Amino acid sequence: MATYLITGVAGFIGSSLARAVLAQGDKVRGVDNFATGRSENLDEILERIDLRTVDVLDLDAIQEASKGVDFVLHQAAIPSVPRSVLDPVGSNAANVDGTVNVLVAARDQKVRRVIYAASSSAYGDTPSLPKQEDMFPNPISPYAVAKLAGEYYMSSFYRCYGLETVSLRYFNIFGPRQDPTSPYSGVLAKFISLMLHGEQPTIFGDGEQSRDFTFVDNAVSANLLACRAPRDQVCGRVFNVATGRRASLKETFAILKTITGFQGEVKFGPKRAGDVTHSIADISRSQSHLGYKPLVDFKEGLHKTVDWYRSEMRPVVTPPSPVAS
Ligand code: UD1
Repeated sequence: MATYLITGVAGFIGSSLARAVLAQGDKVRGVDNFATGRSENLDEILERIDLRTVDVLDLDAIQEASKGVDFVLHQAAIPSVPRSVLDPVGSNAANVDGTVNVLVAARDQKVRRVIYAASSSAYGDTPSLPKQEDMFPNPISPYAVAKLAGEYYMSSFYRCYGLETVSLRYFNIFGPRQDPTSPYSGVLAKFISLMLHGEQPTIFGDGEQSRDFTFVDNAVSANLLACRAPRDQVCGRVFNVATGRRASLKETFAILKTITGFQGEVKFGPKRAGDVTHSIADISRSQSHLGYKPLVDFKEGLHKTVDWYRSEMRPVVTPPSPVAS
């Protein structure tokens, strides 16, 4: 039985990873500072995991949490492009310093392998599509720069200390438990939640921008594969985690109208600073080196996600107590 340390375990990706690791019969230790993570995301597995309230900026606590660990799945981060535009210092601290701390602790505690949640934002607005791992990175936002710096730290720890590391460039991951309530929430969580409540969403820009939206189960499977893939094929390297298809925001809104039954129209607002126009991945390297394949496509993922948000909205109905006759 292996022990997995999941940083950011109370986030929607971290908590999905925790469920999958438990399902394969392994042990989960999780850390979170609960800045954006929510303990409700762990509700029914809380008893089965070793959960610690720890910030990745606290090196001593991360050292302690890394003791006896086989694999680290490093998800803790402050996400969001616009948030990093407003607060580059905070983004850099959590995303870069936090990652260095996780790596130092993993090296010192002799962890077998560290898998890192890197970001497709590293590519920036490269004119050629799809985006391949060998392309020269062109990050636009502070968030993208910080996530890319994390990748470089990952490969440097492999090259300098022999710590096995794998970076997974996530392409717009979405799914159940993604928080829709923050102004920095991912677009799908926001749109689905608003539309289910009969409220009008806003597209920033002309809506022609496109994303390779990737259902969370695909990211979970990539992490588990990355732990076991042969060292000489994957360590010190970067892999796209995506579906290899894309949808524009206008198309996405139209699909969501059908799934949610929303009757209204979308509003348009100004384009966001730091926004990438088009994003779609070439997933051939992940397929050949990790054995990755997308398990759930975009539309199926949207259905599953909408179903989940719907089930969260439903009030709990207590059955009437039997009337004595
Ligand atoms: C970026 C990364 C993604 C990463 C995420 C972390 C790229 C291509 N992707 O996502 O891999 O996981 O950061 O935060 O860089 N939008 C609206 N209305 C809204 C909200 C968003 O129109 O209410 C638009 C945005 O302007 C953007 C698109 O929807 O064009 C997606 O936005 P968002 O979900 O925030 O993710 P990215 O910034 O693309």
